[in-house]
Amino acid sequence: MSYDNAPLVKTDNGNPCHIAIIMDGNGRWAKKRFMPRVMGHRAGVKSVKNIVEFCNEQKIEVLSLFAFSSENWRRPPEEVSLLMKLFSVTLGLEIKKLAKNNVKLICIGDRSAFPSELQDKIAEGEAVTHNNSGLTLVVAANYGGHWDIAQAANQVAIKIQTGVLSNAVITEALISEHLSTASLPNPDLFIRTGGEERISNFLLWQLAYTEFYFTPTLWPDFTPTVLQQAIDSFKGRQRRFGRTGDQVLAKTNSL
Ligand code: FPP
Repeated sequence: MSYDNAPLVKTDNGNPCHIAIIMDGNGRWAKKRFMPRVMGHRAGVKSVKNIVEFCNEQKIEVLSLFAFSSENWRRPPEEVSLLMKLFSVTLGLEIKKLAKNNVKLICIGDRSAFPSELQDKIAEGEAVTHNNSGLTLVVAANYGGHWDIAQAANQVAIKIQTGVLSNAVITEALISEHLSTASLPNPDLFIRTGGEERISNFLLWQLAYTEFYFTPTLWPDFTPTVLQQAIDSFKGRQRRFGRTGDQVLAKTNSL
């Protein structure tokens, strides 16, 4: 999308079309309750289910969740292996429900590093929900914004080397078309729970004009009510995409 054509209002009701979330605070949620960290991740899965259901009901088009970053391998091996198991079990249990509820699952990130059982579950989940037309649920797993830009650049380089692309001018659109989110609109609203205020290598390229919302709520406590507060905050903002506020008002009034 060219920034000149950037729409001012994404949907009829002003809701964000694409919401991206960093689900932070599972460990602290568990620690506060004198529980092992894994209990926080388990509680986090409940929030995932509630938020997916809510977004689907609210006709949000895309929900992207950062489940495991390229850097999360640095965690203690027991926690990493437990997270892998949790993804695998959750996918296994939820695929049918996602399919029935018309949710389309897409996983982004380098899945080749995952246990083969998990890779199979991901492929099955994507295949079974491929033709669904409701919420697109993007799960970012072993994902990093730097990885995404580098893999896009690699794809473009290979296409130029092999003559698939004859014109070697690399444009912004060309990079966008090779990102793992190529088929999706950029996020309108980015939320990070757990009180930290950083992007942590999430959708770096795609967040260029996204509205940010930070909440101290820990992910297991994140309910549809808190999400609605973030959406309401988003609705009250003026998105300018580089224009002046007066230009935006003039354009809005002419719609
Ligand atoms: C960050 O909290 C959370 C994660 C790294 C894992 C997120 C995973 C889930 C919510 C469960 C599974 C999700 C899906 C999509 C099946 P943290 O551990 O960094 O918390 P802390 O900052 O309090 O330590």
